[in-house]
Amino acid sequence: MREIRVDLGAIRANYQKLKSITSGKVMAVVKANAYGHGMLEVAKALEQVGVDALGVADLGEALELRKAGISSRLMCWILDPEADLSVAKEHDIELGVSTFDQLESLEPGTKIHIKVDTGLGRNGFSTLDWDRLFSALAGTEVQGIFSHLSNTSVSDDLKQKSSFEKALAKAAEHGVRIVERHLAASAAAISYPDFHYDMIRTGIAIYGLNPFEDRELEMRLVPAMRVSAKLANVKRVPAGQGVSYGYRYVTERETTLGVVPFGYGEGMPRISEGYEVALGGRLYPVVGRVAMDQFVVDFGDAPAVIGDEVVIFGPGLDGELGAQELGLSAKSINYEVVTRIGGRAPRHYLG
Ligand SMILES: Cc1ncc(COP(=O)(O)O)c(C=O)c1O
Repeated sequence: MREIRVDLGAIRANYQKLKSITSGKVMAVVKANAYGHGMLEVAKALEQVGVDALGVADLGEALELRKAGISSRLMCWILDPEADLSVAKEHDIELGVSTFDQLESLEPGTKIHIKVDTGLGRNGFSTLDWDRLFSALAGTEVQGIFSHLSNTSVSDDLKQKSSFEKALAKAAEHGVRIVERHLAASAAAISYPDFHYDMIRTGIAIYGLNPFEDRELEMRLVPAMRVSAKLANVKRVPAGQGVSYGYRYVTERETTLGVVPFGYGEGMPRISEGYEVALGGRLYPVVGRVAMDQFVVDFGDAPAVIGDEVVIFGPGLDGELGAQELGLSAKSINYEVVTRIGGRAPRHYLG
């Protein structure tokens, strides 16, 4: 009845494409269930092409990957204050370290990447702590120093890069040896080759989606997720028919309504009234409130029948119907749309 189709071949091809634009390594970011695409399946698919490294947020995600037999390099960067960090060394998981407490509770020999806050104001050591930090690390070797950009504007990105350079210089002053420096996620990896350093950390681009909200993606990537459902009911209704909770839509004339069994329980945004889905290559509007299990489409006089497949988003429809368009209809972004997709809808894998 519902299907999330994930093309692992597209994910591998996107990874190779990103490899081709950089002389350094590519970390594929598979956190949050690989942005809704299925963490284990995506990690296994990328391992087949010798992925340089995989990135996740939580230690729990990293452990899940190791338990599933993933042997690629693995890094995580949001650490539970109560976590036993010694498991990281035991399972060869590299840690992104953002606090002095974390630094002090590490098992000797754990591979760490020091996160420096160069402007985003989230995780990472504040500039005010850099002297203390690099004094504490003086004369040691760390696997990495990294930071994350705010993607606010070109000038803000450049400011962050210059702040990152200051952190690297301070580390050098204190004799801290750094194996890898990394700063760019998908947007900067695509826009600025001189932000690549030794590794780029790409998430959204691996899934073939556009990291930019305000411009088209020039790089040819292939969206990996296609979401569809089969019409559970189709009926002719008269003019004046109210549709869904609150009657936010009332038919103006006799028309054909179809019920798509894909609701906010599956990650369809509740406010996406007016978004258009595809039936037989043509687009039709979602009308009335999206509910937990379903939404309604007005097909006019088109010949829709029960069991017909409606594509909610996916590649191959003239560039329309992307996760980005669905995100826009919900005042959100493609990242949130794909990450929330799931619920009762099974994932089927191609390639
Ligand atoms: C630290 C870090 N690096 C890289 C990424 C990947 O970002 P993107 O999906 O924009 O490539 C994320 C995602 O939020 C992140 O938190």
